[in-house]
Amino acid sequence: MTTGATALIILAAGQGTRMNSDLPKVLHPVAGAPLLAHAMNAGAMLEPSRLVVVAGHGAEAVQAEAEEWNPAAQTVVQAERLGTAHAVAQAKPLLDGFDGDALVLYADTPFIRPETLEAMAEARSKADVVVLGFEAADPARYGRLIMDGEALTRIVEYKDATDEERKITLCNSGLVMADAKLLFDLIDAVGNDNAAGEYYLTDIVEIASARGLTATAIACDESETMGVNSRADLARAEAAFQARARAELLDIGVTLVAPETVFLAHDTYIGRDSVIEPNVVFGPGVTIESGATIRSFSHLEGCHVSQGATVGPFARLRPGAELAEKVHVGNFVEVKNAIIDEGAKVNHLSYIGDADVGEGTNVGAGTITCNYDGVFKHRTTIGKRAFIGSNTMLVAPVTVGDAAMTATGTVVTRDVPAGAMAVGRSKQDNKDGFAVRFMDRLRALKKQEAE
Ligand code: UD1
Ligand code: CA
Repeated sequence: MTTGATALIILAAGQGTRMNSDLPKVLHPVAGAPLLAHAMNAGAMLEPSRLVVVAGHGAEAVQAEAEEWNPAAQTVVQAERLGTAHAVAQAKPLLDGFDGDALVLYADTPFIRPETLEAMAEARSKADVVVLGFEAADPARYGRLIMDGEALTRIVEYKDATDEERKITLCNSGLVMADAKLLFDLIDAVGNDNAAGEYYLTDIVEIASARGLTATAIACDESETMGVNSRADLARAEAAFQARARAELLDIGVTLVAPETVFLAHDTYIGRDSVIEPNVVFGPGVTIESGATIRSFSHLEGCHVSQGATVGPFARLRPGAELAEKVHVGNFVEVKNAIIDEGAKVNHLSYIGDADVGEGTNVGAGTITCNYDGVFKHRTTIGKRAFIGSNTMLVAPVTVGDAAMTATGTVVTRDVPAGAMAVGRSKQDNKDGFAVRFMDRLRALKKQEAE
């Protein structure tokens, strides 16, 4: 019955009035990625050959984001929101001639598990139309699935349901899978003579039955169908995502000392036997190799930490920070767009930006790479086994050679050759007895004023 090819149709036209936001609802982030991207990710397990996003409110922004996450994504605009069937129908011209199944999913219901989509695809071998349902603890205003044994005969929307039908707890998640041509064909027959005056996608089930076609429903866990309509829902979705992601890390052998205080991004990768101390935040794009330690109150994004490295406490790794094996980055250190080579140490109060730090080099407390002149960014290059004295200002572009040293407090404005010592600070002068005489005078002055 199926050819194997799949097209995803993601409904994302909703304004999300209850979000009370200028941002289209589907662009609100969970774990650092928009809801839309989560829906795209969920659908990715079916290896879709086509992806159509039906946008409406904020369509331009939605399109840009869809393409950012998948350059092959196509966007169509639903100018008027006339219902879910009307929304899906907008994808028809783009999928003209497409031979295969179409899966409809909602961008604001992004947590369907891959296994569930697999089960839907599986069920397609037995029925023309497959709907994803769930047993609702509180069925509220969901559409109800009317079953006759294995067969799904009808879906009735809450508004149109009788009291008897409203007692049904098997509800419609909104996900539908069918042959694409058949889906659009069935949608052509959908009218809007109902309580909402909308074109209901759910009506295709009854239309299919009337044509002697088969429909069925499979059920997933209610947690997967969690929808986002408000900021409170968004916070719940975030919490659910975090709980799932933390549990996965613990399963693969990562130590989270206080899991509930560690915040992960949608793409955080952490290797086995790494230890993550309490209150660590991961932004997008972080890879931590096995056996690394991330100490408390560190913030990481867009960076890579190699085996055996130690970060924090109170460290900030920004995009492009690349830490080799056994590197130490300590408290109140910020690293951005910099490669720190094996065994190098930046332990205290430093800013290392647009820089290369060689193997085994020690960067003293309070060192700063002065990388920005107000217009351009410049690079600092430090060789192997160098020693950068405390409070060194490295005015980029500048190079410090292998095994070179900089004296404490030096402002480095010229390259330092390998093996050399750079001293760039004013000479010290000691005035004998001056401090005592000076203080005596000040105290005498104060006494006079008081009299
Ligand atoms: C829909 C289902 C209902 C199901 C529920 C699950 C229909 C008729 N009803 O109801 O059976 O239990 O979802 O959440 O399908 N959308 C568009 N364009 C439109 C209308 C909707 O893009 O013209 C999008 C919305 O942005 C949303 C999704 O489709 O992402 C569902 O629309 P919504 O209005 O929330 O449908 P419900 O009434 O909740
Ligand atoms: Ca809804």
